[in-house]
Amino acid sequence: MTEDEQLRQEAYEQIEKNKNLVDQDPYRLTYHIMPPVGLLNDPNGFIQVNGVFHLYYQWMPFKTDHGAKFWGHYSSEDLVNWRHESIALTPSEWYEKNGCYSGSAIEYKGKIYAFYTGNVKDEQGNRETYQCLAISEDGIHFNKKGPLIYLPEGFTAHFRDPKVWKQEETYFMVIGAQTKDLKGAIALYQSKDLLNWTYRGILVGGGKGELQEFGYMFECPDLFHLDGKDILVFSPQGLETQGMKYQNVYQAGYVIGDFDPKTGEYRHQEFEELDRGFDFYAPQTTIDSKGRRLLFGWMSVPDQHEQDHPTIEYKWIHNMTLPRELKLVSGKVYQVPVDELDQLRCSEVVSHTVKLTKESQELNGIHGKAVELNIQDIEIAEGWMEISISDGGRIIYSADEKVISFERKSYVDGMTEKRQCILSGLKNLRIFIDTSSVEIFINDGLETFTSRIYPSPKNDKITFGASKDASFTALKWDLNVKN
Ligand code: FRU
Repeated sequence: MTEDEQLRQEAYEQIEKNKNLVDQDPYRLTYHIMPPVGLLNDPNGFIQVNGVFHLYYQWMPFKTDHGAKFWGHYSSEDLVNWRHESIALTPSEWYEKNGCYSGSAIEYKGKIYAFYTGNVKDEQGNRETYQCLAISEDGIHFNKKGPLIYLPEGFTAHFRDPKVWKQEETYFMVIGAQTKDLKGAIALYQSKDLLNWTYRGILVGGGKGELQEFGYMFECPDLFHLDGKDILVFSPQGLETQGMKYQNVYQAGYVIGDFDPKTGEYRHQEFEELDRGFDFYAPQTTIDSKGRRLLFGWMSVPDQHEQDHPTIEYKWIHNMTLPRELKLVSGKVYQVPVDELDQLRCSEVVSHTVKLTKESQELNGIHGKAVELNIQDIEIAEGWMEISISDGGRIIYSADEKVISFERKSYVDGMTEKRQCILSGLKNLRIFIDTSSVEIFINDGLETFTSRIYPSPKNDKITFGASKDASFTALKWDLNVKN
C-alpha cells in the first residue's frame, strides 16, 4: 500500500468507527458543513466548475486537535445540499508530511488547479514550507505536482495559504507571511502558465505602508474585485484589543483598495473586521457563474479555547459558516446569506407584528433549534431591546448607546461574555440558529456576529424583550436540509 492509500484507509476507518458517537451529539448541527469526525478548520479551494461547487477543507481525521492536515471535500449544486466526497489530499509526500495546509483553486483548461502549502517540521520542530500544486480533472481525484515555490529571502517559514486569481491574462498569487523581523506581511507572485512563478515583492505589511505595525503574521489572504474595488481579505495575528475592536485571539478582516497589476502595487484604506462575533476566521471567497462573490468562513478561531468545546467528547469539532454573498455598499463590505438558503425553509412562516413593552416574552410559534428569524421594520427610539436564544446567547441593542451586543454563556467557565460594535440605528436582523451555532446579519448585512453557543439541549425557547417600547415584525421558519 502507498502512504496515500494507507492514510486514506485510516481516515475512513476513523469515520466508520466514530459515526454513532458523532451522531449522538446533541450539539451536532443540522444545516452547516461539519467534519464527519475530527477537526475541521479553514475553507480551501472554494470553486464552482461545470455547475458544481467544490468546498475543500482543512481536516484532521484522527483527533479533535490540529496536526498533519488533509484536504477533505464537500460538493454541491446549490450551496444547500452538500455531499461528502472522498478525500482530496492526504499529507503523504515528503514536502507536505506535516500537513497539506490551506490554499485555493482555479480552473485552467477544464481542470482544477489546487495550490496549497506543504507543511514540514523536523524533529526539533523547525518548519519548512512549500507552495505546491495538485491538478484534478473531476474535482475529486488529484494528481500532485509537488512544490512550485520555495521560501524566498526575507521571510520566516510562516509562509503559507496561496490564493490564486487571473487578471489581464496574468495569474497572480498572494501568500500569507511573516518577515524575518517578525512582522505580518502578504507576498505577491505572478505567472503566465500557473507553473512558473515570479516573486513580485511584498503587497502589504512587512514593516511598510499602512499595515506596517499590524501583528506578527498574516494568514489566508484573498484578493478580489468587488463592485469596482479590489478587496484584500486576510487574518492577522498579534493585534492588541482596542475597545470593541479585535476582541478575539486573532482577527479576520479586509481592506478596500486598488490593485495595479502592472506595478504590483496596492493602495488601500484601513483594516475593518469582517465579523464581530466570537467565532470567525480564515474566510475564503470565490466567484460563481452568476458573478456573485461568495464567502465561507471557519466558525472558530485558532488557539481560542478550542479544546474546551463540549463537542470533543463526541470526537468532532468546528464547522463552516453559511455561504454568504459579499457586496460593497458605501465603502463597507456587506455579507448576506445566499438566496439559495431559502430552500432550507421547511415550515410555513410564523409571523407576528408586535409592540414590546415587557422585559421578556415569548411569541406564539417562535421557538426552535434550527430556525431562521427575520426581524423587520424595527422601531426603537430609546432604551434597549433584546432577543434571547434559550440560555445559550442573547442579542441586545441599546438605542441610547447605539451599541449592539451579543452575549453568550462561556463554554469554558459558564460566565457571560460579550462582543459588541457601534450601530447608528437598528433596522433589521436575520438570525440563523442551528443547534449550537448562530449567525446574525444586521441591517441587511452591514454587520455580522458569528458564534458557537451551547444552550441546554432541551431548551428551544426564543424570547423577546424591551425596556421601554420597541416594535417590529418577526418572521420565523424552521430550517432543514431536505435531501
Ligand atoms: C489558519 C491556518 C492556516 C494554515 C492552516 C493549517 O487557520 O493556520 O494558516 O494553512 O490553518 O491548518
